[in-house]
Amino acid sequence: MGRTKIVAGNWKMHGSLDQNQALLEVVVSETRSMQNASCVVCVPYPYIPQAKSLLQDSHVAWGAQNISQHHQGAYTGEVSAEMLAEFGCQYAIVGHSERRLLFGEGNKVVAEKFKAAQQCSIIPILCLGETLEQRESGEAEQVIAGQLDAVIDLLGVEALERSVIAYEPVWAIGTGKTATPQQAQDVHKFIRNRIAMQNERVADDIRILYGGSVKASNAVELIAMPDIDGGLIGGASLVAEEFISICMATQN
Ligand code: 13P
Repeated sequence: MGRTKIVAGNWKMHGSLDQNQALLEVVVSETRSMQNASCVVCVPYPYIPQAKSLLQDSHVAWGAQNISQHHQGAYTGEVSAEMLAEFGCQYAIVGHSERRLLFGEGNKVVAEKFKAAQQCSIIPILCLGETLEQRESGEAEQVIAGQLDAVIDLLGVEALERSVIAYEPVWAIGTGKTATPQQAQDVHKFIRNRIAMQNERVADDIRILYGGSVKASNAVELIAMPDIDGGLIGGASLVAEEFISICMATQN
């Protein structure tokens, strides 16, 4: 059997106790028949206990949107992998472009966050992606290679075995401008080939999700591409019907 697909919602800084409960209850009940694909929601830190209590007996997993590279200490405002693990987080997004661009996270820090997550058996969802400027100046592959290589250089290619990659072109995030299925496929293939140069088995097994303005209306054609193994969904993950349709469209 091929790679099990994943649909992960990234709520970003949205939600409230009431909204989350309403959303999660309907997502759990409407995706119950989902087969051969996993459903994950990455929620803001304070709502992780709520996600745990609503999802622990369901098929929907929960995770965080960021993680500290440090394990404990005087790091005001940070949250460690150990803390997230105590609340049952199975996933943590690392290196989202909003963290890279708005909060100054560089490749090395992102690789350290990836490592911290894995040390607590949390699966990192490593985000890679170029800006419009980088794409237009022909640097997209070089940028993505640098983001990927930072993790491989720190931890070795085998570390990718217990991780998920998300390709999210910055110009497609929250803009309504999705990469075409072929544009996304080309980059996914590039990422897989780069991993295969070091370890073909790891390259074959790793799930590479696409993110950037994925909606129910474009999910099917994106996920049909051979190297697209699911989606990382921002805005549409907050709208129950949209998120449920994307999940149901993603079954093998
Ligand atoms: P949108 O789906 O809102 O474009 O966001 C994508 C994203 O950043 C997911 O991490």
